[in-house]
Amino acid sequence: MSIKILVYYLLLLACVFFTGCDEKIEPDLTAYLETDGEIPAEIWAGLDEGTQEAIAEGTKYVALTFDDGPRYETTSALLDGLAERGVQATFFVIGTQIMCGENKEILLRMKEEGHQVGNHTFSHARLLSTQLNTAEEEIRKNDVILTTILGEGEYWLRPPYGLIDNVRAKLVKTPMIHWTLDPEDWKLLDAKKVADCVVEHVEEGDIILLHDFYPSSVEAALQIIDRLQPEGYSFVTVEELFRIQGITPQPGVLYAAPDRLRPTC
Ligand code: NI
Repeated sequence: MSIKILVYYLLLLACVFFTGCDEKIEPDLTAYLETDGEIPAEIWAGLDEGTQEAIAEGTKYVALTFDDGPRYETTSALLDGLAERGVQATFFVIGTQIMCGENKEILLRMKEEGHQVGNHTFSHARLLSTQLNTAEEEIRKNDVILTTILGEGEYWLRPPYGLIDNVRAKLVKTPMIHWTLDPEDWKLLDAKKVADCVVEHVEEGDIILLHDFYPSSVEAALQIIDRLQPEGYSFVTVEELFRIQGITPQPGVLYAAPDRLRPTC
């Protein structure tokens, strides 16, 4: 680690020391897109045998994604539940949350347990309404934190509220991931209602949006897994979902699912 990065990291720590860990994040805007989940023949041919077999047996791959964490209590409970069920998920984390209390340990646990970790900006910035350099800084600062804690890697971006424009998208050096199914867990705050919504609407290839910030969302996620696994659904990271569909996501491009782009505004 270079001295520059270390100093930067220590400054961030000092800055976060004065901010709260449990301050509620403004909820994401709702968005809903449907996917057909079909795998084109040429992509099928490129899949490994194990994956082909699982798909032939009717396995339907979807990705659970969790935004706005980590939050020690709720994210720990979620990681316990995912481990019990052998499920991998994707976490789009916020820098200010990572720096709170013991949350750094949670981040390391995510990596150790095979989950994908992504960037949700340093302070959950509304990128569309920030200055260009601020937007770039929000993404970069969090990337430095992730790299410092987890090591070199590509930390895909989920822009807060799913919103980014073409100009700012050019500043992003990784793929960007929207979602295809949003049960509005932050609004419902009811595990059964959230799980019912997902179970009713889910389709193969979906990227499901939840927030590990809320106990009800953690409970909903585990209910979703328990109800969908017997129906042939398999839960994988977003990265794995792209791999299964034979798609290499490009930097600066906003995807709703591997087979579908989400236009930037
Ligand atoms: Ni968010």
